[in-house]
Amino acid sequence: MDKLLITGGKRLSGDISISGAKNAALPILCAGLLTGDTVHLSNVPLLQDVATILKILRQIGLRVEQDGDRIAMNGGAIDKLEAPYELVRTMRASILVLGPLLARFGEAKVSLPGGCAIGSRPVDQHIKGLQAMGAEVHIEAGYIHAKAKKLKGTRIVTDMITVTGTENLLMAATLAEGETILENAAREPEVTDLANLLVAMGAKITGIGTDRLVIQGVDALHGASHKVIADRIETGTFLCAVAASGGDVTLTNARSDILDVALDKLREAGAVITTGADWIRVQMAARPKAVSFRTTEYPGFPTDMQAQFMALNCIAEGGSRVTETIFENRFMHVQELNRLGAAIDIDGHTAIVQGVERLVGAPVMATDLRASASLVIAGLAAQGETLVDRIYHLDRGYDRMEVKLSGVGADIRRVKQ
Ligand code: EPZ
Repeated sequence: MDKLLITGGKRLSGDISISGAKNAALPILCAGLLTGDTVHLSNVPLLQDVATILKILRQIGLRVEQDGDRIAMNGGAIDKLEAPYELVRTMRASILVLGPLLARFGEAKVSLPGGCAIGSRPVDQHIKGLQAMGAEVHIEAGYIHAKAKKLKGTRIVTDMITVTGTENLLMAATLAEGETILENAAREPEVTDLANLLVAMGAKITGIGTDRLVIQGVDALHGASHKVIADRIETGTFLCAVAASGGDVTLTNARSDILDVALDKLREAGAVITTGADWIRVQMAARPKAVSFRTTEYPGFPTDMQAQFMALNCIAEGGSRVTETIFENRFMHVQELNRLGAAIDIDGHTAIVQGVERLVGAPVMATDLRASASLVIAGLAAQGETLVDRIYHLDRGYDRMEVKLSGVGADIRRVKQ
């Protein structure tokens, strides 16, 4: 099992190129199931989660050719309408094959994803929406069995805002009969990126970027070309790394218009941030100031940035309160940060962080994707060596993080076990 060995205390300077967004690429790849034509993608990130979804899609019969960040996919020879447990359990987003398979082929058998470290992560809203569109759905032996001669458009109001729930129902609605209205839709930029691809494929969608998506079903979708948007969470992760280490770094191939609240909070922490069309520069000269925040759905502070910003607060001047409103168990990084000398107490859904002058390196263990990023950030700021174990979590969602960080002067390397 690989580990990352970090020697902290180095200021960072130079450029880092941001990869395509994991949480846009995953639904977009599943959209390849919706047409018998070829869809050409670029800026697809090289991640473990992308490799996993491609394995599932190829098993279903999607023809995929990959050349670095470019993918050509064709759904003209789909011959298996199933996503098996052994793959789905490693990546919950596999549930995103359900809507496309049901909409185009009238049938799908998809393993229930099961929970993960940050919460139970049910998919009841995905199922509720598909049933509202006329699908017969039953759960048997850990699998979702869904059938529908032809999905029918209808008005759906999800109980809460769900990103992949919105994406599954949006994809299903593109080929349903008549009009579908998704109320309480997720507005994350990754949902918008998927919707833009679907429109390029011939789907009729209005309200893109709002919490009310209106879709007129069409008979078929056709091929298209699409560039995946920049990963705003990778962007925010590196911004926090520089703010914690000190330095002057420019992130290229980045989008600064989809990360407003996180940028505001970094400025409040004392970072000087300047932005351009496709770049963000962060300069940090002094010790950060503590900044409180609470996670909410887009466009609020992203839950996927909570652990990383908490690492920054650990070494900040003053105290802060971090409230997690999306997931019930997304503080797994707290105990590990405390091993590095942080002073964090948990009170329900709120972590109370008392900033300390200095963290001290130690062996720590990653528990989930963003927790591992938080431990890397803390290791960069800590005195001495930090060894982060179980970094397969990190590799799921970050494209060669240690290579990108070494490129701007961090003392970080992968240790093969
Ligand atoms: C997406 O997960 C992201 N993953 C997550 O990113 C992200 O943290 C999350 O949205 C919130 O922004 C992908 O896009 C692949 P939700 P998703 O459905 O869609 C509850 C990362 O680090 N809920 O928006 O699974 C759910 O339990 C990952 O990149 C139901 O109760 O999240 C949660 O409390 C982690 N029933 C809340 O809603 C449902 O049917 C939001 O979940 C669906 C969701």
